[in-house]
Formats: sequence, C-alpha cells, structure tokens
Amino acid sequence: MTEEAADAPVVLVVDDEPGLREVLQITFRRQGWAVECAPAAAPAIEALKSRDPPFPLVVTDLVMPGGSGMDVLKAARARSDQTQVIVMTAFSTVESAIEAMRQGAYDFITKPFSPAELVVVASKALEKSSIVAENKLLKARLGTMRPQRTADLFGQDPVMHRIATLVEKAATTRTTVLITGDSGSGKEHAARILHELSNRASAPFCVINCGALPEALMESELFGHEKGAFTGAVTAALGMFRQAQGGTVLLDEVGELPLALQVKLLRVLQERKVRPVGSSVEVDVDVRLLAATNRDVEDDVETGRFRKDLYYRLNVIRIELPPLRERRGDIRGLAQEMIARFAEEFDKSPLRLSAAVLRSLEAYDYPGNIRELENMMERAAALATGDEIGLEDLPDVVSGLTPSLPPVAAILPDEGCDLDRVLAQTERRLMSQALERTGGVRKAAAELLGITFRSLRYRLAKLDMERSRREEASEEASEVTAEPPTEE
Ligand SMILES: Nc1ncnc2c1ncn2[C@@H]1O[C@H](COP(=O)(O)OP(=O)(O)OP(=O)(O)O)[C@@H](O)[C@H]1O
Ligand SMILES: [Mg+2]
Repeated sequence: MTEEAADAPVVLVVDDEPGLREVLQITFRRQGWAVECAPAAAPAIEALKSRDPPFPLVVTDLVMPGGSGMDVLKAARARSDQTQVIVMTAFSTVESAIEAMRQGAYDFITKPFSPAELVVVASKALEKSSIVAENKLLKARLGTMRPQRTADLFGQDPVMHRIATLVEKAATTRTTVLITGDSGSGKEHAARILHELSNRASAPFCVINCGALPEALMESELFGHEKGAFTGAVTAALGMFRQAQGGTVLLDEVGELPLALQVKLLRVLQERKVRPVGSSVEVDVDVRLLAATNRDVEDDVETGRFRKDLYYRLNVIRIELPPLRERRGDIRGLAQEMIARFAEEFDKSPLRLSAAVLRSLEAYDYPGNIRELENMMERAAALATGDEIGLEDLPDVVSGLTPSLPPVAAILPDEGCDLDRVLAQTERRLMSQALERTGGVRKAAAELLGITFRSLRYRLAKLDMERSRREEASEEASEVTAEPPTEE
C-alpha cells in the first residue's frame, strides 16, 4: 500500500458493493489521495459530520439499501461548500443523477466507467474544492483586514499606493483588466483582491492557466462541452465561464492562448455568450474577465502572436505590477508578515527576523519576486531552531550579501597612512551614526552594526579612553596620533 502525504486530500467513497469500494480505493490511492469508505448512507453521513477539515470530495452511489446517495449529497452540502460530490449512477437512473446536479452535486458518472474516467472528474472536483477553500481563507483574511485601507493589502511602498487605488477603482466596474508583471510579482494576488473588493465577491473567482493545456482541451475548459463531444467526454462539463457565473474569471498566462481560441474569446467578450464544445446552442454568461501575463503582450501583438482586437478588449484597464526590487520599501513588512504566518502554520512560537537578516533581505534583488521571498521565509521558518531567524537560515545568495560594506574612501595616500588610526576613525564614525539613528539606544545601534551589545559597549569605552587620552595630550598639534588600540 502506498503511503499518502500528510496533506493528501481525503476522499470519501460510499457504495454498498464491496468490490467497487475496493476498486475506487485502489484507483484513488494511486493518485496519492487518501480514501475512507462507507458501505451505506448512514455511516457516510456520520463521517461527513465529524470530519474536520471537511472532506474535499465524496464519491457516492445513488441507489443503496437503507438510504440513498441523495441523503449523502444533502449532508455534504450542509457540512461545507468545500465538499464536492460526484454521484455514480446506473444508466437507468440518469434522471436522478440530473436531480442530484440540481441539488448541488459537482458531477455524475454513469456505470460502468473506467477508473481513468473517474480520475479525470475527481481531479477537477478536488481542484474546485481547493479553490473554494482558498477563497474562504482569503475572505477570512480580508475580513480581518477590512478596517485597513486597500493599500495595506498590497504594501507600503509608495509605488504600490497607485496600484491599490487603481484596483479599488477597477473593482467597482465590470471592464476587463490586464494585469502584467514578472513571474511571482503578485498578479494573481492582485486579481483576487480586485474580485474580493467588487460586488461579485460572493460569487466564484476562477483561475484558468491558458498555457497549461492543449488547445482542444482548453476550449472545453473555458466553454464547457456536451457529453460525448469528444473521446473522453464521458460527462458534460460546464467550463470555467459557466462555473464562475456571476463572478470573476482570471485568464492566467493569457499570452499563451492559441490564436484560434483568441478569436473565440473575443466573441465571448463581445456577445457575453459561450458555446460549449459539441453544442449548437449558445448560453448566456455573466462574468467579469481579468487577464494576467508575464509576457510582453505588446511585443506579441506586434509579431502577430496575439490578436490586436483582443488585446484592446483586455487592456481597458492596465495594472502593471513592479518587480519586488523596485518596491524595496515593502520587503521588510512582507517578510515579517510571512514569517509570522509560517511560524503559525508550522506550530512554532512567534519568530523574529534579526536585523542582519532584514538588511540582507532588503539588499537582495529577487529574480523570483514575492514568491521567492515567500519560499525563503517558509524555508527559514522550517529551519529555525530558536525564536530568531539568523543569516544561517537564509539561502547563501542572500546571506552572502552581508556584510553590506558602507562606502569607505579607501585610497592609500602616496605617503602611506596610519592604518590603526584610519580604522579607529571609521569605527567611530559608523558608531556615532548608528547611535544617532537609533536615538542613542545602544542595543539597537549594536544590531544595526551587526555586533553584540557587549562589543559596542567595549568599543565605545575604548574610543572614549582614546579621546580623553588625546585631550590630555598637548594641544599644540591639531591632529593627534591615536595610540594603537589594544586587541579585543
Ligand atoms: N502583496 C502581497 N502580500 C502578501 N503576499 C503576496 C502579495 N503579493 C503576492 N503575494 C504572494 O506571493 C506569491 C506569488 O504571487 P502570485 O501568485 O499572485 O504571483 P504571479 O504574478 O501570479 O506569479 P506567476 O507569474 O508566477 O503566475 C503568492 O503566494 C502570493 O500569495
Ligand atoms: Mg500567477
């Protein structure tokens, strides 16, 4: 038996036939999913009620002695909207399967079916479940943040204030928005906030990656298909646009959309109707469309890879997210927020970032932008042993940036110099700047200089002694040669 990962989704299988339960168990386990089985409706409903977090997916037979799959479906709907239900049905009971869809089943599958067919439908249902869960989490987060301004959802750097205002404005309209920016710069994050701030917030927010699937499948992902529309289309599918009815669709990596689909998408935008694959009927859709890309779309338009008319349609409002290195003012706040989040996630006591860590983080260039910072904080939180993250918990590329050497005019004069004196002078200057900046708080000044409090105290005393010695010495010379300082 294969071991599932600790965070593997747990699927509840409900069927009175032991043979089928076993087949499904094996099939799902092969996907790396965990499986729980119930032989009838009653124990299934028990399991549904007691399980926390809720099952993401229930696959249930419809006709069973003692209680039907409909009861399981109702219990699942009552438990959580994260729980998706697929009903299995014999051909003769397709009518009830359709009723199940009306009652909120994710999909149905007609017996006999192959394991592969079921896996396709089940994977999609699980995806839907995680989207619902994610939306919930975000809503909860936004809920606690509500008193803050939208700007706070993006960051404190002045560059982001403009973007926050733009998102706020765009949220009140239903025009398309094109979000551009390097990989990991927060395009999807911005799109979600836009949706959450809009009057569509209570309807779904769906994301589809336009580069992830071959053209034929992509069309059905977007617009849905009829049962039997193509080989493998064992059940009808709604498609993203109809799933998001009343809500928002984010077309991620829109630059990857094949030209043929660009034409179809343009029609959807103009006519607000979709035609499912294999269907001759168009269906009205009401969705707000957002598009994101890290490609240079203008360049793609120029070279004919992207249709100009579609580009104009999408680019009504443009949000350009800067790379993280151009909003360094946000690094500190983001890092602290993330480390707090990961500490909580890993069940650790609150974690602090040392001053040296913050300095290195602020100096780094982040080719992977916010996602890279997030990964770094996750790794640091996982590695941390004490309650402070030190440089040793950061990847070498970042920790290697320290010490960031301040520019010291290190030019050796022709006549040579007194090295100890030059060093002492540099030391004094940097220490007095640090003290000035921290309002005389020596502990903070020590952190800023990357030395211990004791070391700072020692150095100050040493320089003080030198000064008084110097002042005692004759004042005939305007400059006094400092005594070589004693070794620490
Ligand atoms: N302002 C922010 N505050 C906190 N976390 C953020 C912020 N912006 C982005 N993130 C986080 O950074 C990660 C990357 O963001 P997101 O997925 O939105 O980037 P993207 O631009 O869509 O990336 P890609 O181009 O790779 O698809 C996500 O985990 C997201 O939660
Ligand atoms: Mg993205």
